Amino acid sequence: MSTVPQGQRVLSGMRPTGALHLGNYHGALRNWVELQYQYECYFFVADWHALTTDYEDTSGLPQAIHEVVIDWLAAGVNPSVATLFVQSAVPEHAELHLLLSMITPLGWLERVPSYKDQQEQLRQKDLATYGFLGYPLLQSADILLYRPAFVPVGEDQVAHVEVTRELARRFNHLYGREPDFEQKAEAAIKQLGGRNITLYRQLRRRFQEAGDQSALERARAVVESNARITVADRDRLLGYLEGSYVTILPEPQALLTATPRVPGLDGRKMSKSYGNTILLREDPDSVAAKLRTMQTDPARVRRSDPGDPDKCPVWDLHKVYSNEATREWVNAGCRTAGIGCLDCKKPLIDRIVEEVSGMRRRAQEFQENPELVTNLLAEGGEKAREVARATLDDVRRAMHLRSQ
Ligand code: TRP
Ligand code: SF4
Repeated sequence: MSTVPQGQRVLSGMRPTGALHLGNYHGALRNWVELQYQYECYFFVADWHALTTDYEDTSGLPQAIHEVVIDWLAAGVNPSVATLFVQSAVPEHAELHLLLSMITPLGWLERVPSYKDQQEQLRQKDLATYGFLGYPLLQSADILLYRPAFVPVGEDQVAHVEVTRELARRFNHLYGREPDFEQKAEAAIKQLGGRNITLYRQLRRRFQEAGDQSALERARAVVESNARITVADRDRLLGYLEGSYVTILPEPQALLTATPRVPGLDGRKMSKSYGNTILLREDPDSVAAKLRTMQTDPARVRRSDPGDPDKCPVWDLHKVYSNEATREWVNAGCRTAGIGCLDCKKPLIDRIVEEVSGMRRRAQEFQENPELVTNLLAEGGEKAREVARATLDDVRRAMHLRSQ
């Protein structure tokens, strides 16, 4: 993993909320599987986050954590490439959360869109808690601790990454001041070497004098792609671009996952709360049975009635699973009543049964040997902790707190 360039780390997390379904796979996991081969990836189970809404009965947590990790492995997340861990095994998340809480204006948290929305949606639970209000802050700590370049998330989480960026900026601004910063930054520029020295200076000037954002981005890339400089110099150079502070906590970017609409069996979005899901590790017979009875275009009552794929959730599944040729066959056959709905579903059933069978195969070893999961999480936790400790050391030093 040491070959992955600095600054090209990826971090994401998921709550342990029960068995994952195909919507989760196409909405997040499939993307993780791809990213793990391109970046140094950290994926964690956000068990403390689960407590922000489900604090009354926590007895199911150990099982839920175990199962969600097996689902990741089933989906192809590879623990010898990516680092997998459980949030609560890395107490540094809690310490950074505490320190960040000191500099977080309440308004920033109250304005996060999910705060009021979720409180209303989950009215049966009392969510007027301190933990629930602070949930985006916990997420910021999760992220900033690993100094990732990218955070793959769905649309609903982009606001949280935005808060994280604001917090990083605020933190750097408050605590990133060094007495001899300018001299150190100038010395660091020389470490860039060759033409990058002039390039960095030119780009910095273009940003500072003309506000040229693209110059800022290019300058950052010059710094981040340089493998020769130390982490401290890298932070100085990044901070020097925008002002004169050390970037202790770099601002991460949200990596918006392109998510196809995965319909559930009733045509609504696939979601655990609607009870319309196909699970990642569902029994193939059950997958086939569910798909056979899945909702189709309601206007197509008899086999001889032509249908409209645009009004049919099965068509949405074809968009996710089928190739061009099959889709053309569906489209033409449906509109002319040339094919029946069961004919139409047949290639889908084959594809999804095959996909789910692959996941079950990959999961089997871990289901039979639960200690494999325990061990890989322990190993991942150790690795994550090393990164987390290094960040917290810098944070403590910057805040003049005792180092450990
Ligand atoms: N809040 C995310 C969710 O509910 C989970 C999460 C927690 C997360 N911490 C994170 C995602 C850090 C990305 C990065 O889905
Ligand atoms: Fe839907 Fe296919 Fe039936 Fe058309 S033929 S209504 S696309 S299931």
